[in-house]
Amino acid sequence: MEDNNLECGYAQALSYSNAIAEIFYTVMREKRPLDREIKNYFRGHPACGSKDRFLITESLFSLFRWYGWVKGKLPKGCPENSLESKKFCTGLSAALWLENQPFDQFMKVLCKSAGVDVTWLKSSPDLIKEKIKGLSHLFKIRKCDIFDLVPQWFRKEVLADEIATIIEPFQRRPPVWIRTQNDAQETVLEEFGELGIDFSRHEIVSNAVKISTGKFNARDIESYKKGLFEIQDLASQCLGLVCGASENQIWWDVCAGAGGKSLLIANQMKGQGNVVATDKRADILKELQKRAERANFKNIQIEDLDKVVLSQDNFDGVFVDAPCSCTGVWRRNPDLRWTAREDICEKSACTQKEILELACKKVRPKGVLVYATCSLSVQENEDIVNHFLKSFPEFELEDFVHPLTGEKTGGTMKVKFHPDDCDATFAARFRKK
Ligand SMILES: C[S@@+](CC[C@H](N)C(=O)[O-])C[C@H]1O[C@@H](n2cnc3c(N)ncnc32)[C@H](O)[C@@H]1O
Repeated sequence: MEDNNLECGYAQALSYSNAIAEIFYTVMREKRPLDREIKNYFRGHPACGSKDRFLITESLFSLFRWYGWVKGKLPKGCPENSLESKKFCTGLSAALWLENQPFDQFMKVLCKSAGVDVTWLKSSPDLIKEKIKGLSHLFKIRKCDIFDLVPQWFRKEVLADEIATIIEPFQRRPPVWIRTQNDAQETVLEEFGELGIDFSRHEIVSNAVKISTGKFNARDIESYKKGLFEIQDLASQCLGLVCGASENQIWWDVCAGAGGKSLLIANQMKGQGNVVATDKRADILKELQKRAERANFKNIQIEDLDKVVLSQDNFDGVFVDAPCSCTGVWRRNPDLRWTAREDICEKSACTQKEILELACKKVRPKGVLVYATCSLSVQENEDIVNHFLKSFPEFELEDFVHPLTGEKTGGTMKVKFHPDDCDATFAARFRKK
């Protein structure tokens, strides 16, 4: 695969489609995350050039995003020679067509194997209804319905009037959002200008900048290396405004993970105060350590979870970015739709209750507790809030302004893709009496 030219003949197309098939069936069989599996594959195939990687990665994301419609065509197991499998080639070429992937030569080979007449292939239309017609006509994939694009169990997890409005954004490729920090927005945007990177600033969330350039590799950019910006979706950035941490407060980020929100809160506190960051997985906090050092944030203190639970009290604010089903980021990780267990929301809800019960004890009187998920499930959001208020009557919901709409929230907020093309998130802000 050392040839970086996408004008591929049969042999190169075969190596692409075999790679796609191998990764696809491994993810489905082993229920492993797609992004990790792709990385593993390329580690084992160092001859793959950047264009090969791009084609294979993009094709896999298309295949998972549209799996609900093309699955009827795909063989049950991984074909040994994927180009000899008419079914596999039909499913894959349909998924690529649905997203208008720009791999014309590869498509030609796939379509030939699938028996699809490429002379009829025009751009896939934007409208879902029109896509359904095209699939039937061109690929003989019939009886598609928008609801088939998510697993059956998920439909019971969301409000009935929400489901249709949720699925359509799931099918669009998400944009990259960055968050500038250390008051360095002008410097960052100047560098983007020099590098020819197209961007637009968010009108309300002042540190949020949307990148419109297709290939954006932060690691190559000087201002990223200096910690002047982080990749962070707009929905996550809104959570900083829900917390509203001020400069001399002490906050506990209970589920800090790789630290996206710890950095957000630390930046909001302008390097003052203190953010105590913990996670059940101590290892993941090393990533936060690196990011905090890069940004030179001295106000993040990484701690052992048990130590904080045993010895610290009276936080001004406690932030619970709870482990959840991640259904709100399914468009970023479309594989999760098909590999998540049916009971994931129920199981997550149990963990969420346990974490909140422990975390709320550490809030000082008149202090704040913020609960957040990147889930769309009622069980993990509204039901958790109701259960918490019943169990801990010393807390009440506190009103705040929705960062994207400017409207009063009454204490809970849902961000759902619109109007700014971001992920979905849920947050509740409680005040201790
Ligand atoms: C949604 S992720 C956090 C993402 C992170 N806040 C960020 O912005 O990058 C949830 C995290 O909760 C952690 N977790 C799971 N159970 C936990 C528990 N009982 N106590 C603390 N952290 C837990 C997981 O290890 C995971 O890193």
